[in-house]
Amino acid sequence: MNIIGTGSALPKKIVTNGMLSEFLDTSDEWITTRTGVKSRHVISDEKLEDLAIKAALKALDDASISAADLDFIICSNVVNEYVTPQLSCIIQGGIGAACPCMDINCACAGFIHALEIAESFYKAGRVNKVLIVCAEEPTRMTDWNDRSTCVLFGDGAGAAVLGPGENIRSIKLSASSATDKLWQYRLLHPTPYITKEECDVPLQMKGQDVFKFAVKAASGDISRTLAEVSVDPDQVDHYLVHQANTRIITAIRNYLHQPDEKFPVNITDHGNSSSSSCPILLDECSRAGRFNEGDLIVMSAFGAGFVSGAVLFKW
Ligand code: COA
Repeated sequence: MNIIGTGSALPKKIVTNGMLSEFLDTSDEWITTRTGVKSRHVISDEKLEDLAIKAALKALDDASISAADLDFIICSNVVNEYVTPQLSCIIQGGIGAACPCMDINCACAGFIHALEIAESFYKAGRVNKVLIVCAEEPTRMTDWNDRSTCVLFGDGAGAAVLGPGENIRSIKLSASSATDKLWQYRLLHPTPYITKEECDVPLQMKGQDVFKFAVKAASGDISRTLAEVSVDPDQVDHYLVHQANTRIITAIRNYLHQPDEKFPVNITDHGNSSSSSCPILLDECSRAGRFNEGDLIVMSAFGAGFVSGAVLFKW
C-alpha cells in the first residue's frame, strides 16, 4: 500500500491567543510556552462535512484519480452534527463515489488506525484505491469557559488516497483503557426505563496524565514500529507526530535523540485538530516540497481511550 495523494481543508475563522484572552483568564504567553499554539482554525458557519469533502477532493486531485475509482472510504471522526448517518456516507455522496464506506472513532490516533485497516484490505487483495478522510471539530466538544481545554484545540479535515504498493513498512497500534483521563458525555434521549442520572458533560481532561501517556505511548510505538523492520531512528528522515503540544513533541524527540529539523510542526497555527492533525501535517509538508521520493517517514499519534499508534512508510 502506498500513499498516492493528500489533501486538507480548514475553517476560515482564525482565533488567536489574544482573542481568547479577551474572555478567558489566560494569556498568549501562557498558551505559547505551555502548548506551542499561537492560533487555531475554528468552525463557525461551515459544516464539518463540507471541509471533509473539500479535503477528499483535493486528495483525489493530487492522486490524479476520480471518486469513481475508489473501492473503499474510511472516515475518522469523533463528533459531527449527525449521530447517524455516518460521516463517511455523507462524504461518499458529496464526492460522487459509489464504493462502500465506514467510520471509525479512535480519537486523535484515527489516521493510523485507518491505515492499519486499509493495509489489511490490501493484503487480502480486496481493494485497489482507498480514501481516508479525518474530519474533526473538537472545538464543539470543549467548554469555552474552561481555559485548560479550549485553548488547545482547532478544527479541520485531512485526507489521503491509497494505492497498491509496498511503501507501508510497519504499523503498530496500542490501547490501554483509561477512560477517566480524557472523556466527554453526551446526553441521549430519555426512555421510560432510564432511572440512572445522566448529564451532558463537555470534554474533561487530566492534562498531566494525558501528557505522560502521550510521551510514553508515542516513544514505545515508534520504537516497536522501527524495531519490527530493523530501522534505526537515525535512518528516518521525518517524524510527523500528532500536534497536541510542542512540549510532548520535544520529549519524544529527546527520547529518540533526533534533531529538531526532522519534526515538522503546524501546531502553532492549527492547535490540536484530533485525528485530522497527522494528515493535515502530511499534506502541508508534501505541498511545501518537504519530502523527497524514497524518504522514510514515521507518523505517530495518541489520544483518548487511551489509544495510540505509529507507522513507518516510504515516500
Ligand atoms: N491559561 C492560564 N493558565 C492556565 C491555563 C490557561 N489556558 N490552563 C491552565 N492554567 C493554569 C492551571 O489552572 C494551573 O494553575 P494553578 O497552578 O493555579 O492550579 C496552572 O496553569 C498549571 O496547570 P497544569 O495543568 O499543571 O499545566 P501543564 O503545564 O500541565 O499544562 C496542559 C496543561 C493541558 C497544556 C498540558 O498538561 C498538556 O498539554 N497535556 C496534554 C494535553 C493533550 O495533549 N491533550 C490531547 C491529547 S490527544
